[in-house]
Amino acid sequence: MSMNISFLKHTHLEEVFHYPIDNTPDHIAIIMDGNGRWAQKRRMPRAAGHKEGLSTVVKIVKASVKCKVKFLTLYTFSTENWKRPKGEIEAILRLPKEFLSIYLPDLISNNVRIEAIGDIEHLPVHTREAIKYAIARTRENDGLQLNIALNYGSRHEILDSMKELLTDINNGKVSLEELDEERFSGYLYTTGMKDPDLLIRTGGEKRLSNFLLWQLAYTEFWFTDVLWPDFSEREFLQALKEFRQRKRRYGGV
Ligand code: FPP
Repeated sequence: MSMNISFLKHTHLEEVFHYPIDNTPDHIAIIMDGNGRWAQKRRMPRAAGHKEGLSTVVKIVKASVKCKVKFLTLYTFSTENWKRPKGEIEAILRLPKEFLSIYLPDLISNNVRIEAIGDIEHLPVHTREAIKYAIARTRENDGLQLNIALNYGSRHEILDSMKELLTDINNGKVSLEELDEERFSGYLYTTGMKDPDLLIRTGGEKRLSNFLLWQLAYTEFWFTDVLWPDFSEREFLQALKEFRQRKRRYGGV
């Protein structure tokens, strides 16, 4: 069956892959690390690495659609990233609008639904508006849900959820007796989503960097030294292949 994958014309696919749709993770979360180093190796400004990283985003979204992944969550800008130089912050926060202004029609025709996780109200207006527009335009889509994590920090998310929950407890909307993990999950940004099955981190570091700490409790991790701008469908499909071989026991035997 052929699909309308018009992203193809924007990328440079040299090989034809077999796209597995059996035992594919429902939810893949990615820490897209290594953009700065990719640029520095080429004596380019770090912002050039982020821009190149956006091309990888396009390839991986396309591959996720083909593999029938249900949720793809991309760590795009963390609450800690505000510590970076102003110019670099601006460069990163321009990318969502750039991405959506080019690809929103493709995303819509491929049934992709856009969502954001994080404190998007404190982002620059152009970033926030582009995201909100895309969320509204894709609300009815029920294919891949692309979660863009922007101004996201997991501890902040957990604290915020806790405050909301305590307010509901004080108002009598929730009782302590009925509070369980599922109920608490409903207060997180990821409410209604399955927890990630697979976490991919590129760029060689092996840490979580305040990403989805609650949601990754039983997630399989896959690390690669490949820098995000060099990450391709080949590595993505390799991660899926290795995921398929993992035995998930959730604490059982
Ligand atoms: C980490 O690499 C990467 C980021 C902080 C930004 C990632 C953002 C994108 C790839 C754009 C995504 C856009 C959309 C619309 C989803 P780093 O700079 O920390 O790399 P380094 O470790 O080599 O310095």
